[in-house]
Amino acid sequence: MTDQPKPLDLTSHNLPAEKTAELLRLFPEIRTEGGQIDFDKLKLVLGATIDVGRERYGLAWPGKAECFKTIQAPSMGTLLPTPDESVDFDTTENLIIEGDNLEVLKLMQKAYLGKVKMIYIDPPYNTGNDFIYPDNYTESLQTYLEYTGQVDSSGKKFGTNSEADGRYHSKWLSMMYPRLYLARNLMQEDGLIFISMDDHELENLRRICDDVFGEASFVGMLTWTTTTQPDNIGRARFGLQQNIEYVIVYSRCPSIELPPFILASNGQERKYPHQGRFGACRFEIIERAFDGAYARPTLRFPILGIMPREGKQWQIGEETAKDLESRGRLEIIDGIVKRAVYPEDEADEQTGLMPFWSHLERVGTSQAGKAELTRILGRSHGFDTVKPVDLIAEILSHLPDDSLVLDFFAGSGTTAQAVLNANAIDNGKRRFILVQLPALLDPDIVQQRTSVEYLDSIDKPRNLAEICKERIRRVIKEFRDEEAGQLSFNAKQDQGFRVFKLSESNFKTWDASASKDGKELEKQLELHIEHIRLGRTSEDILYEILLKSGFALTTPVEKIEVAGKSGYSVANGGMLICLEKELTLEVIRAMADMKPQRVVCLDLGFAGNDQLKTNAVQIFKNKEIVFKTV
Ligand SMILES: C[S@@+](CC[C@H](N)C(=O)[O-])C[C@H]1O[C@@H](n2cnc3c(N)ncnc32)[C@H](O)[C@@H]1O
Repeated sequence: MTDQPKPLDLTSHNLPAEKTAELLRLFPEIRTEGGQIDFDKLKLVLGATIDVGRERYGLAWPGKAECFKTIQAPSMGTLLPTPDESVDFDTTENLIIEGDNLEVLKLMQKAYLGKVKMIYIDPPYNTGNDFIYPDNYTESLQTYLEYTGQVDSSGKKFGTNSEADGRYHSKWLSMMYPRLYLARNLMQEDGLIFISMDDHELENLRRICDDVFGEASFVGMLTWTTTTQPDNIGRARFGLQQNIEYVIVYSRCPSIELPPFILASNGQERKYPHQGRFGACRFEIIERAFDGAYARPTLRFPILGIMPREGKQWQIGEETAKDLESRGRLEIIDGIVKRAVYPEDEADEQTGLMPFWSHLERVGTSQAGKAELTRILGRSHGFDTVKPVDLIAEILSHLPDDSLVLDFFAGSGTTAQAVLNANAIDNGKRRFILVQLPALLDPDIVQQRTSVEYLDSIDKPRNLAEICKERIRRVIKEFRDEEAGQLSFNAKQDQGFRVFKLSESNFKTWDASASKDGKELEKQLELHIEHIRLGRTSEDILYEILLKSGFALTTPVEKIEVAGKSGYSVANGGMLICLEKELTLEVIRAMADMKPQRVVCLDLGFAGNDQLKTNAVQIFKNKEIVFKTV
C-alpha cells in the first residue's frame, strides 16, 4: 500500500484547524482533554485574571493564579560579571550564575530563548526539611537582596517547608511552576528536560509538567538505584526502604517525533581523538572513586604493574583486564592506566541501535556522589544531596555532543563536572549554564556545620554557591594538573566558566509608587539625574545591555577606541556600545562609519546637549543603524 501515490486533497485549506494546531504548539498548556483550546487558560497565559480552579481538568492548588503573575512580573535585576571567581573568563562559554533561579530565568528569556538543548534539574524534593524559596511576585528581587544581605547586612532568614505547614504541597508547587514555565521557553524545539525526583512530589511533578509541557510531551520516567545499603532511619518514610529515584523526561514540544536518542543510545557519532599503539583511538579512564556500598576488593589489583589510586578501584574485573591487555587495549598515559578503544572494537555497536532503557544501570549511587565530592574538595563537606556524576553522564551520552546544558538547581555543580568529563572523553563541545542560590549556611544547624567548616577552611563566604564554584575550579585544576589528571588535557578545550551574580539593575528606575511629598520627590529627581547605581563598573553595565538586548553572556566583546573615547564592539561589530559620559559629534560619526547594526550609548553621555542628541539620531538614521540610549 505504501507505494501508492497520496490522493490530492480536494478540500479547501482548513485555516481554523491550522491556527488551532499552531496555538496548541505554542502553548501546550492550553490543550483540553479533548485536544481543543481552553480559552480561559489562554487568557491566563496572556496575563488576564481568571479562576484557575473551577471545574477544569488538570492540577489546581491555592496560589496557582498567583503563579502567572509571578511569571509575568519582569525582573528588575541584572547579572554582574565576576572575573576573579571565574576560570578563563574572557574565552569560556560556560556559566555559573549565582542567584535565585526565578529571577535568573527571567533575565535569560531574551538572550537564551530556544537555545538550550537539554535541561537537567534536581530541585528540592520537599522532604519536610527543604528550604523552599519564598517567591513574591511584587518584590521578588527585593526578597533576594534581603536574603543575601545585599540591602540589609544581616541577611534575612527563611525557614524550611515543613509538613505541619497547611500549604506544604502548594508552596512547593508554586515554587516549581513558574520556573518550569520559564525554563521551557529557553529550550530548543527538540530540547529535552530531565527532572530528578523521589516519592514525595512525584505525582505533583508529573501533573505540573503535563500542564506546562503538555501531556503529549511526556517522554518517559527513568529510574536508578540510589543505594544498596539498608537504612532504618531516613528512607523508610513511606513504609518501604526507598532505594530508587526517578528522573522524569519531557520534550519541549508535544509534536516531537520519537527523538533518535531514544533508539540510538550511545549511537551518536563515535570519536577517536587520541593516538594509541594501533592508530586513532579514544582513551577512557577505567578507574572510579568508590563508596562504602560499592567497594570491591576484587577490583583492586595491579594492571600493567599499577594499582588503583587511594579511594579508587578499577571498573573492570581481572579477567577482562587480562583480555584487554593481551590485545594491547590497555596503556599507561601520564602515569594512569587507560583503556584504548579503537573503531573496530565498536563496529557492532555502531551499526546496531540500542534502546535508552528506562532503568539506568551502573550510574553510581548517592554515596558515590558524595564520595566523589569529598575526593574533589579534599575533605568532608556536609553537602547531602549530591548526585553521582555518572547519572548525568549517562543522560548526556544520549544527546548531541555540542548541546547547551542548563541546570538551574545546580547544588554542588555535578552537572558541570559531567559536561567537562564528557567533553574531555570525546572532544565534544557541550557547554553548561548552572544557576545556584547562594543559600546561606548556618553553623548552629547541625546538618550545615560541616559545610561551614569546609568553607571557613578555604576562606570563602558561608553559602552553597561557593561549594559549587570551588568544586568546578578543582575539577578543572585536576584536568590541568598532569600528575593528578584523570583525563588527558586538551589545551584547546573549553575548561573554564564565567561567574555572574544576580543583583539589582545598574540603572535606578523611577519609582512611581513612591510618596509624592517634597523630600521623596526630590530624592526621585536626584535619582533620575544620576541614574547609574553607585560603584557599578562599565563591565557591569556592558553585560546588562548585552543581556537585555538579547545577546548571550558569552558573546565575543572587544574593547575598542572611537575618536579618542573607549567603547565595546559586540559580536564582531554587530553592536557598538559607548559608555562615555561626555560624547562628542566625532565619536558619533566614528561609530556610524563602522556600520554596526545597533549602537547603544548612555543618556548621560549627552549631558543635556539636546543638539548633539538630535544630530546623533539623524546620523544613525541615515545609515539605518538602530540607536538606543540607557
Ligand atoms: C537537590 S540540590 C541539587 C544537588 C545537585 N544535583 C548536586 O548534585 O549537587 C538543590 C539545590 O537547589 C538550590 N536551590 C533551591 N532553591 C533555589 C532557587 N530558588 N534558586 C537557585 N537555586 C535554588 C538549593 O540551594 C540546592 O543546593
